Amino acid sequence: MKRLFAEEDVQRQVRRLARKISRDFAGREVLLVGILKGAFIFLADLSRRLAFPVKMDFVRLASYGAGRSSSGKVRITKDLETFLQGKDVLIVDDIIDTGVTLKYLVRRLKARRPRSLKSVVLLDKPSRRKVRFQPDYVGFTIEDQFVVGYGLDFNEEYRNLPGIYVLK
Ligand code: IMP
Ligand code: MG
Repeated sequence: MKRLFAEEDVQRQVRRLARKISRDFAGREVLLVGILKGAFIFLADLSRRLAFPVKMDFVRLASYGAGRSSSGKVRITKDLETFLQGKDVLIVDDIIDTGVTLKYLVRRLKARRPRSLKSVVLLDKPSRRKVRFQPDYVGFTIEDQFVVGYGLDFNEEYRNLPGIYVLK
């Protein structure tokens, strides 16, 4: 395993994102929607640095087909418990890869008529994109490599690493 970002690098980037998001959403109350399980650590750190009131909810998605990335068919296996109509919603995810997961979730949540719907990811692998989707906020843009740590797993392992590592 090779270290890509040390804990300090990650925390610095989380602070930067939080500052930008805090400016953009100043004066609002925002519902953070974390995508389980990968986003739980990023959401925990990011949310504690936001300068506006937040509520939180979580959704769990499954994509058919095992392996290292989504197959293209996604479904909600644990839905939100919050009514979205009229709310400012910010989807929080660990990483965008093919884009299939986020594109699907945005489509599903838009149908519930939030006042606004934006997304933030800590990591972006743009070279892997299969569908057109660009998150509103991105921490790090990385090459096509499989990463673990800071919520990201391989077979449920490594989520608790404070930095981000390339698995090889
Ligand atoms: P997408 O639908 O292909 O964009 O995949 C998004 C999801 O796949 C992420 O939320 C992760 O759960 C998982 N994923 C994609 N790339 C990686 C990676 O490098 N490490 C760990 N999980 C990943
Ligand atoms: Mg995920």
